[in-house]
Amino acid sequence: MHRTARVRPGQTVLVHGANGGVGTVLVQLARAAGVQVIGTASARHHDALRAHGVVPVDYRTEDVPARVRALAPGGVDAVFDHVGGPGIVDSWRLLAPGGTLVAYGTAATRDATGSKQWPVLKLLGRVWLWNALPNRRRAHFYNVWAGRALSKARFRARLRADLTQVFTALQRGDLTPRVAARLPLTRAAEALRLAESGTVAGKVVLNP
Ligand SMILES: NC(=O)c1ccc[n+]([C@@H]2O[C@H](COP(=O)([O-])OP(=O)(O)OC[C@H]3O[C@@H](n4cnc5c(N)ncnc54)[C@H](OP(=O)(O)O)[C@@H]3O)[C@@H](O)[C@H]2O)c1
Repeated sequence: MHRTARVRPGQTVLVHGANGGVGTVLVQLARAAGVQVIGTASARHHDALRAHGVVPVDYRTEDVPARVRALAPGGVDAVFDHVGGPGIVDSWRLLAPGGTLVAYGTAATRDATGSKQWPVLKLLGRVWLWNALPNRRRAHFYNVWAGRALSKARFRARLRADLTQVFTALQRGDLTPRVAARLPLTRAAEALRLAESGTVAGKVVLNP
């Protein structure tokens, strides 16, 4: 939200999976920074999103690009996309001039058979191409672990700086982590099934 998209108060962003684990944090960081949020989610999450000041869009039943264009006719200032697949092109096209696409996953191909690397490589290729073309928009693939192998010192300094910001926001009350369930480590398989079930909101915590 801040390091990559560099949002400013008054801007509008689109967060896919806005009620998911990462999505919930993105929403709270955006709202704390005075940013308007349009969030995609299943209908059962919409009341929770409205309570956080988010305009919800049902990605299962609605035409997401059309709805986002109606809500933000000039485009949005940033899109946070963990879905990837063909829909990433819509995310890119929804950007306003000067906007930033932050791709950080390829959930659309999670259950696909075949190479796990290929969808990521394809996405990285698209990001590279979009940045190479003159179009006044930027695309990034964000990976929290990026750069770890290149320079451990630089990676650790960045992680420390970012986590300090996150924990400060937590202390201030700008962020509230949502915990769906806490299970002992001995029930890890059950915890994973629950986390993958799509039936709970928030993260599943394993207690050692
Ligand atoms: N690059 C990185 O550094 C990094 C770090 C952490 C996580 N990730 C990736 O980020 C993704 C999300 O992680 P998470 O922990 O937040 O998972 P999560 O809690 O399961 O949330 C994912 C959300 O995605 C939504 N979703 C699924 N398909 C969608 C679609 N087609 N359009 C819009 N929303 C869709 C679901 O929404 P509904 O429940 O509303 O249907 C769900 O709430 C994962 O793919 C993970 O690998 C990347």
